[in-house]
Amino acid sequence: MDVPNMDSLEDVARQVRSCTDCPLSGSRTNAVPGEGPADAEIMFIGEGPGFHEDRLGRPFVGPAGQFLEALLADAGLRRDRVFIANMVKCRPPNNRDPLPAETAACSKYLDRQIELIDPKVIVTLGRFSMSKFFPRESISKARGRARPVGGRLVYPMMHPAAALHRNELKATIMEDFRAIPGLLVETPAVQEQGGEGGDDQGQQLSMF
Ligand code: URA
Ligand code: SF4
Repeated sequence: MDVPNMDSLEDVARQVRSCTDCPLSGSRTNAVPGEGPADAEIMFIGEGPGFHEDRLGRPFVGPAGQFLEALLADAGLRRDRVFIANMVKCRPPNNRDPLPAETAACSKYLDRQIELIDPKVIVTLGRFSMSKFFPRESISKARGRARPVGGRLVYPMMHPAAALHRNELKATIMEDFRAIPGLLVETPAVQEQGGEGGDDQGQQLSMF
């Protein structure tokens, strides 16, 4: 479904905040459009707002968000330089998984955010956002490996909430995070068979 007047990220956020296109609008406190600079090179996609995000209208501000910030810092990344979004913009009741109809109704906003930001790397957090790009994969097999999709890299990782209380998973998620900066110098257009784009290939390669 096309939504008019989504020429900027602010337009998208405004549309999201007044959206009633799925039943989640009825139970939300605040919609959570996502946040970050329009020229972000890295975009993170989570599942959907939880309790704290619904309260504040901002993504990843609860315990999973604090862990995400620690992982970003450990990898040498700044939260205010990346864009953080979710598959659905309103909190599913009791943090249940979003339903297919809800994701379908909401995908126009995320798709437009991806178009407007045009990030070099999309990091999917958890199996749910991974399935947007790799529907039949399992997270345990797909995580930690970036693959070219439409002229950019998509890098699936575990959800920080899954690793938060499990020490045996922490090393893995940290390792996966530390690889993110290196992905910015890879060139999807070169790797992708018959791929297009890559207009700044030369610039990227000169960074080695
Ligand atoms: N988990 C998510 O997937 N997204 C958030 O914004 C917060 C927690
Ligand atoms: Fe609209 Fe998405 Fe919120 Fe559903 S989850 S009401 S589609 S913004």
